[in-house]
Amino acid sequence: MTDLSSKAALVTGGGSGIGRATALALAEAGAGVVIADIDEAAGQETAGLIDAAGGRSAFVRTDVTEWDDLERAVSFTVETFGGLHVFHNNAGINTGWPDFPEAARARWEKVLAINLWAVIAGIQAVVPAMRSSGGGAIVNMASLAGLVAYGTDPIYAATKHGVVGLTRALGGLKEEANIRVNCLCPGFVDTALPRRRLADMPPDQRARWEGALERIPMIAASEVAEGVMELVGNESLAGEVMVLLQGGVRKLVPVPGFT
Ligand SMILES: NC(=O)c1ccc[n+]([C@@H]2O[C@H](COP(=O)([O-])OP(=O)(O)OC[C@H]3O[C@@H](n4cnc5c(N)ncnc54)[C@H](O)[C@@H]3O)[C@@H](O)[C@H]2O)c1
Repeated sequence: MTDLSSKAALVTGGGSGIGRATALALAEAGAGVVIADIDEAAGQETAGLIDAAGGRSAFVRTDVTEWDDLERAVSFTVETFGGLHVFHNNAGINTGWPDFPEAARARWEKVLAINLWAVIAGIQAVVPAMRSSGGGAIVNMASLAGLVAYGTDPIYAATKHGVVGLTRALGGLKEEANIRVNCLCPGFVDTALPRRRLADMPPDQRARWEGALERIPMIAASEVAEGVMELVGNESLAGEVMVLLQGGVRKLVPVPGFT
């Protein structure tokens, strides 16, 4: 396991699902972990789990679509744990029902804001602190939906394709600032997110989707956290896109059209 005992980490969306699993894994590796989430109760709960396991954690309420909140989360991390070396750029949502193009504009604009604007802004907010800390690792949360034609939620797919492109384009930060930017593309993960869109569906649609989700082999959030830890720990990886499938299968994705 990578030793992060002198390091500080910031996890957006660390209150549940994948972010919580990553926050626990980073703390287990020794990092001081700041959980930044819009849901205060959930974020505090993750911090409590880390503390109960003997780790170091702190919570800062953060709406990742607010620049001031992002800047506060970064300065809070530096003040609390003496730097910023690992950033899991993770908070994300799906569009919900009905899908695009029927989806209300405010709803798909919110998906763009959280899944893409905030991922870009998050990187801009952490880079100065990472430079001052001597460098670090950024792991952006993309999705298999960022690589394939995910017709279920086209807006979600567009944001995740954006995260994949952004990650590849930022590979050069390794040379320039010793900051390695990579991203992870899991298939369906067993968290609240895939089921959230069912809530607004008409009953017949919901029954069909519930059945489909039961048949899909789900990845455990802890398996995704292992992928994040590999991207954090492997010093040779920068600008890489890693697919993660059920059973812990992890593969780097070649740039399409060039291999
Ligand atoms: N679950 C999946 O099937 C799956 C698959 C691939 C990728 N992902 C991606 O993984 C990431 C985490 O998803 P998850 O499955 O753990 O979902 P989740 O719903 O369990 O967790 C998302 C967290 O983000 C927080 N959040 C939402 N809006 C926020 C905001 N504006 N500011 C700060 N925090 C906010 C929520 O409070 C929550 O704690 C997302 O980017 C998602 O797109 C999920």
